[in-house]
This record gives sequence, structure tokens and C-alpha cells, in this order.
Amino acid sequence: METLRYVLLVFHLFGFAAIMGGLFYQLRGKDPVTGGYMVSSAVVQLVTGAGLIWTRATLDLPIPHAKMGVKLALDVLVAVVALVGMRNKQAWAFYGVGVLTAAATVVAVAWK
Ligand code: HEM
Repeated sequence: METLRYVLLVFHLFGFAAIMGGLFYQLRGKDPVTGGYMVSSAVVQLVTGAGLIWTRATLDLPIPHAKMGVKLALDVLVAVVALVGMRNKQAWAFYGVGVLTAAATVVAVAWK
């Protein structure tokens, strides 16, 4: 179970890296695009996050429920804003996904 938790955490970090990596890479260009990879990465975060909560519960590790609720809300917002941005192709959605993902990261590391 401990190994599964580490595997899920690695994929959770891959999902985070996929969103932020794609975002930072596009900042080099002039016309950043809100892409489907942002939605699929948000789904990866949701699935691996749920798996992490389950493994932590099985291992009797603490689960901060309020923190998880805030992360879940931010993750859903990332997916919704990304979907809207893919339709209307406006820049605010691209930067919105970045700000929301950065906020989820701050919550992940700074909220004990
Ligand atoms: C954009 C969305 C998200 C981002 C950027 C994100 C980022 C992170 C990062 C960087 C960590 C590692 C923090 C550390 O170990 O100090 C982490 C851990 C964790 N995340 Fe997320 N996360 C997101 C969404 C979610 C969601 C939706 C859930 C569940 C509902 C979740 C559940 C967890 C759990 C349980 C851990 C602790 C893993 C452990 O050490 O056992 N995350 N997240």
C-alpha cells in the first residue's frame, strides 16, 4: 500500500508538471492556447488525488479534509476554465488555469 501511495504521488506530480510545463512553455510564444491537455491533467489530478486519499486512509495517515475540499474545488475550476478557454479561445482562460493551478500547488505544500 505504501508503494501504491508513492506511485500515485509520482503520477500526481506528473499531472501537475503537465499543466505547469505546458503553460510555461507557451509563455515563450505570442499566442498562448488553452489546450485539452489542461483538462486531462486536471482529471489525472482528481483520480490520483482520490487514490492518494484512499491509500492514506488505509495506512491510517492523517487526511486534512478542509485542505482536500479546497484542492478539489480548485481542480474542478481548472477543468471548467480550461474547457471554457478551449471554446472561446480568450487569453484570460489560459492565465486563469495558471493562477488556479498555482493556487492548488500553494495549498498542497503550505497548508499542513
Ligand atoms: C490542480 C490540482 C492539484 C495540484 C496542482 C496538486 C498538487 C499537489 C502537490 C504538489 C502535492 C505534493 C505536496 C507535498 O507532498 O508536500 C500534492 C499532494 C497531494 N494531493 Fe494534490 N494537487 C491537485 C489536486 C488534488 C486533488 C483534486 C486531490 C484530492 C481530492 C489531491 C489530493 C492530494 C493528496 C491526498 C496529497 C498528499 C499525498 C501524500 O503525501 O500522501 N490533490 N498535490
